Amino acid sequence: MKLAILSRNTKLYSTRRLVEAAREQGHSVRTLDPLRCYMRISSDGFAMHYKGQSISGYHAVIPRIGASVTRYGTAVLRQFELMGSFTPNSSDAILRARDKLRSHQLLAAQGIGMPATVFGDNPDDTADLLSMLGPPPHVIKLNEGTQGAGVMLTEKLSASKGVIEALRGLYAQFLVQEFIPEAKGADLRCFVVGGKVVAAMKRQAPKGDFRSNLHRGGSAKGARTTLAEQEVAIRAARVLGLGVAGVDLIRSARGPLVLEVNASPGLEGIEDASGVDVAGAMVEYVAERHKRRLAKRASKS
Ligand SMILES: Nc1ncnc2c1ncn2[C@@H]1O[C@H](COP(=O)(O)OP(=O)(O)O)[C@@H](O)[C@H]1O
Ligand SMILES: [Mg+2]
Repeated sequence: MKLAILSRNTKLYSTRRLVEAAREQGHSVRTLDPLRCYMRISSDGFAMHYKGQSISGYHAVIPRIGASVTRYGTAVLRQFELMGSFTPNSSDAILRARDKLRSHQLLAAQGIGMPATVFGDNPDDTADLLSMLGPPPHVIKLNEGTQGAGVMLTEKLSASKGVIEALRGLYAQFLVQEFIPEAKGADLRCFVVGGKVVAAMKRQAPKGDFRSNLHRGGSAKGARTTLAEQEVAIRAARVLGLGVAGVDLIRSARGPLVLEVNASPGLEGIEDASGVDVAGAMVEYVAERHKRRLAKRASKS
């Protein structure tokens, strides 16, 4: 298989591991910086160039598109899709997952548990909006925040209102959630590949914080997941259309609740904590799907 890893930086742990795994499994692999891919779009065919040269013929791409380059990155990925490359995560699926509001709506519509969530636009409605949620504490999240940076806890109604006013003043999009205290600052990252949870880790927030993100100083260790947790994680990935996903669950009194579904989950923390060759599992899955597509095409012709 001729594989491309779409990644801005060949030195990143996840990128390196994917290249390593692909080589180990005997594939030809190249890392392409999505921001250096440019294209000609025309009804008589597509063309893609990379640093002055034409590129084509990639059987599959594994997108590792950071939040800051979502728009251009998914346009490049879409071009690969249109040129016939297989991708475990389509450009559309990545866009669905990146938008917390959109993904929450889609997941809730499929009956997947999550903390109760409200959002609204007009400042005149803030009091009623919060009454739809229930009493504080509240968790307020920037719609497109990542790594815990846009996530705030308010313990009093006046604080919720103040934060919401401030965010509106900055024209920021946000949602407000019920706080799940019984999680005790922990969450469960389930790494889903091809409809299976291949690895899981429990992350614990540092003392004095409720956010368990490793970027916020959280610590991780390998975790065993229950069947119910695996099922929720697998369904969440499927609803958003992601072949590879990091599904973050919180253990609540009413069962596992989905916090977010990451379309470009990091490998370092999870491989470290779980001891699983996650990169290898991703490459195997992509190769398997590529093989199936070839067989399908052969049977059609
Ligand atoms: N409703 C909630 N109740 C309790 N803790 C929460 C809640 N939402 C988020 N957290 C904590 O904050 C962390 C970051 O929230 P998350 O929604 O995953 O945002 P980000 O995309 O920035 O990682 C979670 O991993 C979890 O530890
Ligand atoms: Mg998160």
